[in-house]
Amino acid sequence: MPNAPILEYNQAALDTCARLLRDDELVAVPTETVYGLAGNALSVSAVRKIFEVKGRPLIDPLITHFKDWKEAFALVKSNAIAERLSQAYWPGPLTMVLDKTTGIPDLVTAGLQTAAIRVPAHPILQQLLQSLEFPLAAPSANPFGYVSPTQPNHVQKTLGHRIGAILDGGVCHHGIESTVVDVRDPDDVRVLRPGPISALDIEQLLRKKIFMPTRSEAGCAQISPGLLSRHYSPNTEIVILEPGQLDIRLREGDAMVCNRKPLDLTHSHTYWLSEDGNLQECARNFFALIQNLDHQGYHRLLVEALPPFGLGIAINDRLKRAASKLGKDYSNS
Ligand code: TXA
Ligand code: MG
Repeated sequence: MPNAPILEYNQAALDTCARLLRDDELVAVPTETVYGLAGNALSVSAVRKIFEVKGRPLIDPLITHFKDWKEAFALVKSNAIAERLSQAYWPGPLTMVLDKTTGIPDLVTAGLQTAAIRVPAHPILQQLLQSLEFPLAAPSANPFGYVSPTQPNHVQKTLGHRIGAILDGGVCHHGIESTVVDVRDPDDVRVLRPGPISALDIEQLLRKKIFMPTRSEAGCAQISPGLLSRHYSPNTEIVILEPGQLDIRLREGDAMVCNRKPLDLTHSHTYWLSEDGNLQECARNFFALIQNLDHQGYHRLLVEALPPFGLGIAINDRLKRAASKLGKDYSNS
C-alpha cells in the first residue's frame, strides 16, 4: 500500500474517511488523547485488520468509541456510577469497563465478557462518528509496544503504508491515553490505567475511595493488558532520574530530558517537556519528544520523573514502562 495521505480537515476528508471505514478499511483518527487506529467496531474483518496492522496480540482488548453515551450504554450493562462518570467526563478522556451485552464482537474484547467504552471529545472525530452508522474500535495508532502518536506524522512514519488515510486533527490536546476505569462494581471502582482524569478527581466526584492496583498487582493478572510492564518503549535506552536530581555526569551519547527548562544549561543535549514544568504541557509533549529523540542516535535518554501527583502519576506510568526492559516479548521487534 502507498503511504496513507494526511487529510487536512474538511468535508471531503470526512467523506473519504467514512467511505474507507464503511469498506472495512482502517483510518487513523485524531482524539483529544492520542491518535487512534480506527475501524468499524461491529465488523470482524475490520477489527482483525486493526490487530494485524498494529501487531497486537489478540488477547489485548480494544476500546470502542461512540458518538454519545446513549449509544455507548446500549451495548453494556450500565449502572449509576457509570452514568455519573459519563455525565461528568464524556465526551472526554475517560474509558469505562463494563459487562457487555450483545453487539460488540468478541474479537474487540479479546473474548472477555467486558467491554471498554469511550465517547471521545475531539470535534473532528465527533463529526466523523456522527456521520457513521457504527462505533469505532481504536487502539492508539502505533505499532504494538511503541510510543503512542500525538501528531499525524508519527502515524504516517510507522503505520502509513498499512492504512487507508490519516485524518489530521493537529497535535493531541492531552498527549497521553485516556484513564481506564473498571466500573462494573459500584462499590469497587478501580483505575486500571492512570490518565488525564486522576483517581483523585474521580474520588472527589463520587465521594468514595477508588482502588488503584499497583503495577505488581496488575502485572501478571492482566486486569488491563495495557498495564504490561514494557510498553510505550522507544528503541533508545531510558534511565529514570528522580525529580530534581539533575546534577549527574552525562556520558557521550546521553541526552537529558527535564520537566522544566534548567536554570543553567551545562549540557548541550538537554531537553525539557515544558518551559515551566506545567504538567499539562509535559503530558502533551512527552511521547512526541521521546519519539523525536529516539531518532537522533543517542545511546541513552536520562529522563526526569514527574512529581507524583495528578497528571504526574499518569506520565510517570508511561515513563516507567518506556524504561522497562522486562517482558521483551511484548516489544515491537
Ligand atoms: O486514549 C485512549 O484510550 C486511546 C484513544 C485512541 O482512544 N486508545 C488507547 O487504546 O489507548 P489502547 O488499545 O492503546 O489501550 C486500551 C487499553 C488497554 O490497556 C487495554 O488493555 C484496556 O484499554 N482495555 C480494553 N478493553 C478492556 C477490558 N475489557 N477490560 C480491561 N481493560 C481493557
Ligand atoms: Mg496503546
